[in-house]
Amino acid sequence: MKNNELHQRRLQATPRGIGVMCGFYAEKAENATLWDVEGNEVIDFAAGIAVLNTGHRHPKIVAAVEKQLQAFTHTAYQIVPYESYVSLAERINERVPVDGPAKTAFFSTGAEALENAVKIARAYTKRPGVITFGGGFHGRTYMTMALTGKVAPYKIGFGPFPGSIFHAQFPNALHGVSTADALKSLDRIFKADIAPDQVAAILLEPVQGEGGFNIAPDDFMQALRKLCDTHGILLITDEVQSGFARTGKLFAVEHYSVKPDLITMAKSLAGGLPLSAVAGRAEVMDAPAPGGLGGTYAGNPLAVAAAHAVMDVIDEENLCERANHLGKHLVEVLTKAKADCPYIADIRAQGSMVAVEFNDPQSGEPSAEFTKQVQDKALAAGLLLLSCGVYGNVIRFLYPLTIPEVQFRKALDILYQSLTH
Ligand SMILES: Cc1ncc(COP(=O)(O)O)c(C=O)c1O
Repeated sequence: MKNNELHQRRLQATPRGIGVMCGFYAEKAENATLWDVEGNEVIDFAAGIAVLNTGHRHPKIVAAVEKQLQAFTHTAYQIVPYESYVSLAERINERVPVDGPAKTAFFSTGAEALENAVKIARAYTKRPGVITFGGGFHGRTYMTMALTGKVAPYKIGFGPFPGSIFHAQFPNALHGVSTADALKSLDRIFKADIAPDQVAAILLEPVQGEGGFNIAPDDFMQALRKLCDTHGILLITDEVQSGFARTGKLFAVEHYSVKPDLITMAKSLAGGLPLSAVAGRAEVMDAPAPGGLGGTYAGNPLAVAAAHAVMDVIDEENLCERANHLGKHLVEVLTKAKADCPYIADIRAQGSMVAVEFNDPQSGEPSAEFTKQVQDKALAAGLLLLSCGVYGNVIRFLYPLTIPEVQFRKALDILYQSLTH
């Protein structure tokens, strides 16, 4: 089977709405390496969009899933419960940075976690409003499309969306939005759209993922927490992309001096199996009545087994420390490349949540074109890179934190060449 042949079949069999980035088809993968059906090899810096902080097929995760396969694969937790779900909740409750006792509910996808966070927040506060941010991405279901602050390609042709969702500005120094500007935009929402006592939650990614790896400043997080406390609003952090050691902490919000009320998580939680969660203050989590939360597959035992192994691997292999170590080297290479690559406008990093943003050196405008060129050059040399950003002019780095040192150095050489030649 060849890539071209598969490509033709794909065009016939699946809708164009499911956009596909690569022209090659996966055959097998291990840690940070992926092979296609023609035997070509790439270093995988996309990691299934931030799912594989523990790499492809980590032996511990494979063993845990295989063991669970031999026991049972599905009971529907709401019908017949199992210990592994409860103990995973206990493990997350111990680590989740919220005030006081925590509880955790499991779901399957990131979007589903976000949907349920909004349900929980509304049930607790008995208020309708949710404020999110421009450039934020929260999923492709109706509620999460409404929460998402990026129109193309996620919202085009799909309206109308659920109401009572409002978008404030996310601080972004490079694009001229200060913390004060962002806070003013919230104030404008309170004046023009919805009174603060009708707002259930302010919801944000501490480091925006799809939006460009934009890092929320600490003074902004502090101001949001204060605003929430003043008006009885819940603060929700979406850690679907930033969670599970990527930023050098288990959760990105641990970098800040504030605590959220609820946290959504998914992706690297279960190392490639579909699992998501909402964790938060027990009192808030208990607001929905029995039967109000759940789902047939929510907290699937195979995915839960994988998540237990992920938590073990993160601790045993010191992946938080490793995220800082790898991120530091990547930033050094990007900084060195800047001298020979005038397109580099910004380098941002929190641990291994690293991004490089490109502007045209003549016009100063975002350059999606140069971004694509770098991606193409890197791929031709065997390195798979992902882009992001509201203007499509950012490359984000999502390599497995378990990547061998030698392979990481090789990838950085390819990156340097792709930026400077
Ligand atoms: C921050 C964030 N929230 C939510 C989602 C949606 O997750 P899923 O695609 O699993 O529904 C994503 C996916 O990229 C994300 O990055």
